Amino acid sequence: MSTGKFYITTPIYYVNDRPHIGHAYTTILADVLARFHRSLGDDTFFLTGTDEHGQKVQNAAEKRGVPPLRHCDETVVRFQDLGKRLGITNDRFIRTTQEFHKKVVQAVLQDLYDRGEIYRAEYTGWYCVGDERFFTEKDLVDGKCPECGREVTAIQESNYFFRMGKYRDWLVDYIRNHPEFILPEFRANETLGFLRQELGDLCISRPKSRLAWGIELPFDKDYVCYVWFDALINYISGVGYLQDEKNFARWWPASCQLIGKDILTTHSVYWPTMLKAIGLPMPRTIFAHGWWLTGNTNMSNSLGNVVDPMAMIDRAGVDAFRYFLMAEMTLGNDANFSEDGFIARYNSDLANDLGNFVSRVNKLVLRATSGPIPAPGKLEPEDGELLGAVKKAAETMASSLKTMKLDAGIAAVLNAVRAGNRYMEKCAPWVLAKEGKTERLHTVLFCSAELLRQTAVLLAPVMPEKMAQLSATLGYAPGEIGTIGDLFVKPGDLAGRIMKETEPLFPRILVEDKACCAPAPEKKPAEKEEKPANLISIDEFFKAELKTAKILAAEAVPDADKLLKLQIDVGGRPRQIVAGIAKSYTPDSLVGRTIVVVANLQPAKIRGIESCGMLLAAKSGKELKLVTVDGEIASGSSVG
Ligand code: ME8
Ligand code: MG
Repeated sequence: MSTGKFYITTPIYYVNDRPHIGHAYTTILADVLARFHRSLGDDTFFLTGTDEHGQKVQNAAEKRGVPPLRHCDETVVRFQDLGKRLGITNDRFIRTTQEFHKKVVQAVLQDLYDRGEIYRAEYTGWYCVGDERFFTEKDLVDGKCPECGREVTAIQESNYFFRMGKYRDWLVDYIRNHPEFILPEFRANETLGFLRQELGDLCISRPKSRLAWGIELPFDKDYVCYVWFDALINYISGVGYLQDEKNFARWWPASCQLIGKDILTTHSVYWPTMLKAIGLPMPRTIFAHGWWLTGNTNMSNSLGNVVDPMAMIDRAGVDAFRYFLMAEMTLGNDANFSEDGFIARYNSDLANDLGNFVSRVNKLVLRATSGPIPAPGKLEPEDGELLGAVKKAAETMASSLKTMKLDAGIAAVLNAVRAGNRYMEKCAPWVLAKEGKTERLHTVLFCSAELLRQTAVLLAPVMPEKMAQLSATLGYAPGEIGTIGDLFVKPGDLAGRIMKETEPLFPRILVEDKACCAPAPEKKPAEKEEKPANLISIDEFFKAELKTAKILAAEAVPDADKLLKLQIDVGGRPRQIVAGIAKSYTPDSLVGRTIVVVANLQPAKIRGIESCGMLLAAKSGKELKLVTVDGEIASGSSVG
């Protein structure tokens, strides 16, 4: 099953941010994929690290009154410690302040400058320090940063530019012809949407008078390199570019570059055009995952909802934390992180389903044979069914790791474990033991233990420590149980191994223990005071009748550049609505879509046109996206 080589990267994180669940997530995901590919026998390299130049770091260092490099040296430890804590198996940790990286960035800059890919010009624009990005006047939303809504600073100066704009048509073609280049597919479409406008050149310098903390331009010592241009190069400098060509050829192009959706444009536009200009091949896949939402904005001690993921690791162990993050997020979409959700999933999947099954099999084997896992006798249909379910889970896991549907792979394995629990109820080995039906007893115990063997292999990339513990329980020495690839080509070797007594793998978390993850509020305010003023009752919510509707036709409203007139069908009844979505959707792209509308809104006239209802859309700055449903459902279905 080996596909040869696998080079995976994470973003390099801003060194002065405090690592949180989001950083942990991308790094764990990369680790799971790296472990999986190693287990397939692929030659694997896993790179992560920190982004240490730029305005943000300079500001943070100034605030603390320490030189920037010292500030980095002190804060990078947080990321390195987190990696250790999470069991991350990166092959290298790159810091952009390392000498070798700076030399590569300078060599790339000099080469691009010599070949006319970089030129000098006057620049006027707006700068967002938070995002380290320049924007033009027309990009701004209400005079603020279009990405994060923060204040921007006006800037006029002479700068150096990378001729990014000339690669627009090439990039559009490349994305269209390489469906695996930007994933999920809707992120490729988002990039193509972005590329529909003119693509400007990229300002890649900062005058030292304004920002000294960066890599000096080799052709002008009054300037340093723009932090994103410097940072993206880590993906090649980290595997030997311009230092060790043999090593570089071994790893580049990368197989999978993981990012969060927040940094899609820099990776799907800046990075490919930079590579193209340098003359290097594109990575196979840039994969943008969604966000973990923690309800940060309304987190407050008085509500008692402050969650510290590190405290969860202390309580439930690192593997449970890894498991939760991987199982809970459907790759590509956003997911919600809550302590209740974590405990609920832990208790049901790990403590109840898997943990219980391990304990049962362990005790029954020890009781029946005092150790050796018995060889099976004649297989009955239910045995074949169980082993078939395990085989299917293995196939689903292997394919889901390749198609980045990790949650589905994990769910398949857990389903097999649940089937194991049902099998046990059905076969009742404790009864077989009492009745002296030894051959049947041995078969049932063998099949159950075989399910555990395969589970230990399949979940090892996600829960390396716990699955090593399970392997040891089944009588395997460290590393001896084999790989996911082996499951498909080697027969099992379980019978005769000596089962060892085990502690519960996943002790149940009592809900009363929750406080360990959330600092208890100082004093518990009365119930009434705790309620924020904007809460509504469920009855109030249901006053709004939300329904699915199918768009039958759409057209522009004359003289109104934001409005579209839509003919929709709500459960067999046609109606007309007017919606302010013309800046984000063309009429043609809407026809046939299923959307969500408030069906019982009083009719109103908008620009003299009757509108019976309102559609739902999400808005962030200038960006607007329709609320749609996940899959096919009849129009007129109620939403709530
Ligand atoms: O952007 N949910 O660094 P950064 C999921 N230095 N993932 C999240 C997340 C969340 N809520 N928050 C952060 C930078 N992440 C640049 C990158 S690369 C050449 C330079 C993860 O410290 C996710 O992977 O802001 C996101 O893309 C990354 O952290 C941003 O980290
Ligand atoms: Mg960020």
